[in-house]
Amino acid sequence: MANESNDVYKTRGQWAGHLGFILAATGSAIGLGNIWKFPYITGVYGGGAFVIVYLACVLLVGLPLMMAELMIGRRAQCNPVGAFQKLHRKGSLWQLTGWLGVVSGFLILSYYSVVAGWSMAYIFKALSGFSGSAEQIVGQFDILQNSAGTSFLWHSFFMLLCIGIVIGGIQKGIERWSRILMPSLFLILLALMFYGLFATDGGTAALSFLFKPDFSKLSAEGVLSALGHAFFTLSLGMGAMITYGSYMKKDRSILKDAITVSFLDTLIALMAGIAIFALVFQYGTEPNAGPGLIFATLPVLFAETGPWISVPFFILLSFAALTSGISLLEVVVSYFIDQRNWKRSTATLVLGGAIWFFGMLSAVAVWKVPVNILGENQGFFAFFDVLTTNYMLPLGGLLTCLFIAWRMKDKDRIGEFGSSGKLYSVLKFVLRFITPIALLMVLLHGLELLPFMDYGP
Ligand code: PHE
Repeated sequence: MANESNDVYKTRGQWAGHLGFILAATGSAIGLGNIWKFPYITGVYGGGAFVIVYLACVLLVGLPLMMAELMIGRRAQCNPVGAFQKLHRKGSLWQLTGWLGVVSGFLILSYYSVVAGWSMAYIFKALSGFSGSAEQIVGQFDILQNSAGTSFLWHSFFMLLCIGIVIGGIQKGIERWSRILMPSLFLILLALMFYGLFATDGGTAALSFLFKPDFSKLSAEGVLSALGHAFFTLSLGMGAMITYGSYMKKDRSILKDAITVSFLDTLIALMAGIAIFALVFQYGTEPNAGPGLIFATLPVLFAETGPWISVPFFILLSFAALTSGISLLEVVVSYFIDQRNWKRSTATLVLGGAIWFFGMLSAVAVWKVPVNILGENQGFFAFFDVLTTNYMLPLGGLLTCLFIAWRMKDKDRIGEFGSSGKLYSVLKFVLRFITPIALLMVLLHGLELLPFMDYGP
């Protein structure tokens, strides 16, 4: 076994320290999804009951799928496309799942980077202080969104950071930066949460909004969103965990590490929820503002709290986005390194550059998708978001799940899981039946094909 790892180590990058994988994988998982999306969808779907359903989804869908991806990645020791070929056979159609992941990574990063750019722009807005009437502050977000030049500039800056880190490789790039960014992120969030809990009058209201379930507020729509969000937030369905798993050492327990990563991801989302809703309730604002909660509603409240709270908040958001951005880029880059034998520097520059260029479509808000496929007159930003989150990721997750549960050899699965006992049987059962059914429902819902839902005319 030791020899096997040493051989692999010579040819392929591997996480160095004990915590290397945990920090990098939580870095991928914790992102805009936790700090921007989770609080706003919780607000929209009514709080406590949504949170409970979300927790159940992380346990039943997220965790098993994360283990599945890590097992595939570590077994195959390569990028998602190569992994499906290696574990099945060359030319196997399963490699399309890997392809779907690489393309999803490319598309997600192209618009993710635009939002990440906004959060960096907001660090500077926060530094100079939010002032003026509520309308004026909210209006700033519209101005930023619609100013193609500024959005593109910040998007470029974010992509440059991602490229700079990924080019350094697994240990000297991704792991090193995760070691710095993740603990800083945690400390900032801890401080903001304590501020929300003890220095504002909104703390108690925030806790009861998040943790006191009122099931009458829960809709079928809410349940499906919780399901969809559970695997977006854990970076599943596109091969990010296959890729990160391929750099994992053989002696790490996939079960334990996947639990740790899912737990930390959930913890951070809940902490962000507390910090944000405490402010929202302190100033008597409605929690259901939607996507503008962070960039429009919060700045109005930050005008009261001052830069001591707002600056760290947007730094937190930017750090979270950066560690996710690098994992998206790594998936694409690792394909070109493994399958096409490109040098890391070439692959990172060329693909990072291509994503940057393609991201222009999302940065320029006035450009619309020429054909109305996923909604009328949509901008590219919304189009790529819906395309990836509602269709490509659930499909990728579903195929990955079917592959590991029905196609991968028992020997390979057990080899990675580490035992064939009761827990293994439970995992196999969940991956065979529960997770695929749940993912199929998310997918059918995205296609507006679920028989018991009312999709209107
Ligand atoms: N998990 C990240 C977030 O919560 C997004 C992401 C999705 C990153 C897929 C990598 C892969 O923001």
